[in-house]
Amino acid sequence: MVNQDNQGLQENRVFAPPAEFVANAAISGMDAYNKLCAEAAGDYEGFWARLARENLDWHKPFTSTLDESEAPFYKWFADGELNVSYNCLDRNLKNGNAGKTAIIFEADDGKVTRATYQELYEKVCKFANGLKSRGIKKGDRVVIYMPMSIEGVAAMQACARIGATHSVVFGGFSAKSLQERIIDAGAVAVITADEQMRGGKHLPLKTIVDEALALGGCTTMKDVIVYKRTGGNIPFVEGRDTWLHDLVDAQPAECEPEWVGAEHPLFILYTSGSTGTPKGVQHSSGGYLLWAALTMKWTFDLKPNDVFWCTADIGWVTGHTYIAYGPLAVGGTEIVFEGVPTYPNAGRFWETIDKHKVSIFYTAPTAIRSLIKAADVDPKVHPKNYDLSSLRLLGSVGEPINPEAWMWYYKNVGREKCPIVDTFWQTETGGHMITPLPGATPMVPGSCTLPLPGIMTAIVDEAGQDVPNGQGGILVVKRPWPSMIRTIWGNPDRFKTSYFPEELGGRMYLAGDGAIRNKETGYFTITGRIDDVLNVSGHRMGTMEIESALVANPIVAEAAVVGKPDDTTGESICAFVVLKQARPTGEEAKKLALELRNWVAKEIGPIAKPKEIRFGDNLPKTRSGKIMRRLLRVLAKGETITQDVSTLENPAILEQLKEAS
Ligand code: WT7
Repeated sequence: MVNQDNQGLQENRVFAPPAEFVANAAISGMDAYNKLCAEAAGDYEGFWARLARENLDWHKPFTSTLDESEAPFYKWFADGELNVSYNCLDRNLKNGNAGKTAIIFEADDGKVTRATYQELYEKVCKFANGLKSRGIKKGDRVVIYMPMSIEGVAAMQACARIGATHSVVFGGFSAKSLQERIIDAGAVAVITADEQMRGGKHLPLKTIVDEALALGGCTTMKDVIVYKRTGGNIPFVEGRDTWLHDLVDAQPAECEPEWVGAEHPLFILYTSGSTGTPKGVQHSSGGYLLWAALTMKWTFDLKPNDVFWCTADIGWVTGHTYIAYGPLAVGGTEIVFEGVPTYPNAGRFWETIDKHKVSIFYTAPTAIRSLIKAADVDPKVHPKNYDLSSLRLLGSVGEPINPEAWMWYYKNVGREKCPIVDTFWQTETGGHMITPLPGATPMVPGSCTLPLPGIMTAIVDEAGQDVPNGQGGILVVKRPWPSMIRTIWGNPDRFKTSYFPEELGGRMYLAGDGAIRNKETGYFTITGRIDDVLNVSGHRMGTMEIESALVANPIVAEAAVVGKPDDTTGESICAFVVLKQARPTGEEAKKLALELRNWVAKEIGPIAKPKEIRFGDNLPKTRSGKIMRRLLRVLAKGETITQDVSTLENPAILEQLKEAS
């Protein structure tokens, strides 16, 4: 169903980019933007070929730009060869950046560790040699289950260096989720840490890896490599487990990169869809890195003296493109942050910006909203109490930013002198798709404005026909682009049906979001997912996954999960559950709800815990037995049902599900 919500459409404040910013920007002014768009429209392949030659170092130059012969399995720069780690590291040593700080690591407790490009290069080479010494080679899959650390970034770069395909699993996922990903990817090794530190707490990682492997089925797994982060006491399995320092310390600090074809899979990253198990989104090497580098220049306008801070975790795509690869590919200096925004207090972001003189700051609306609340409660942590004068650009990612949060961010963090780039993109798109350019695009709070040059986004109806501006529809991309998803690992059919559905003609990329364009400006506003995918605090989750986790509990007969709007997290998870026993009420309902919430945390991870669970004798169903989720969404919001319920088999149930048991 197409979501035609018109949130943000009444917004008519326009904020021009500051003149000083425009004067020095990589893409300076709308004319420069329009010129690039015209170049792409005039000669699409020539445009991308030029950018790929200018922005990447190729070991073997490509002669073929876009190969559509197996569409929608598109290939970019296919006969070219390169190495991603070479482009991020060696290239910087050659460019005179050897002594430049690549990474400033800000630990949970505030301790700072730095790595220059030379040091990072050596670390990655040793790491790569260590992986090779364990027999890990080009084409193997390696799962990375690591805390935010220089070692985490080095692990990804080391895989890239030897041509191994990594699959990073967010440290908040459960043993079962980890096991499923190891099996699906057919991983030969897991790189992990003893523990991670978050908000002053020690959280286990290695023991979760042990649990995941103990669940069985990980038949391809041979090695567990453990980075000693805390020195916590953890069990060790002889022959299988190796300390990272034992593996790498004696290795040579040079490692010839493995040259790979541009289409070689750099990584697989699992993300949720509307049905079934998480999908392994497969990305390429050449096209992906091109866009990671280029969007650092275009969207973030990165300059040699910038200090760039993306607050995402390397377990998500934002941490891949805008921590592990993009900033290094353009020789930037970046912060890698281990902690959480609220520890030791909710001023941590602002304090850290001041401490490291951060100039470009990229975070999620959820974090901004929670820090607005925190500053209301405790004025000491309001950004006005910190020196944020180093900032020159702000970014937002992961979910729609509501105009109120945008204004607060603009005024209080950016002091009305920093443009805000509201970047719309997805795990599948590899990098930014629709975003203001900070030195060109007039900004409207709540709108991601216009597509980047070369990105052919459009809004269509359910038959794939363009809809006029001002009318909501389905967001699509009409032409393939270099950093797009290549396939779903091991499931090409699901790739086709999920992203290139026949109903839309089979050649348009379906983003899964609804959108609307402003009548006058053509600006895009994203109106939310059109499938059963939830976005909770910028974390993407499928309702089906949570339902499957719930019904896997022996006391549960049936479950339906819907999203409910939430002031802080954007959406929250509301589960309607039918138990095999009689419907619980009062204290018993509370106890069972808690039990089920913890169960979901164990099955998937704490991020998937329903905020609310309502028990019913049944769920609202049509006569053919289909659960009517649209009614559940209304009930979750606490609104009265005004829709037609004539097809409902059991209307009486609605009354029971109106509120918590
Ligand atoms: C979904 C993708 C983008 C990388 C991190 C999340 C939503 C993302 C925005 C934005 C409105 C946004 C969409 C999208 N989304 N950015 N600026 N404005 N919505 O990647 O986990 O793959 O989630 O996040 O719904 O489809 P992801």
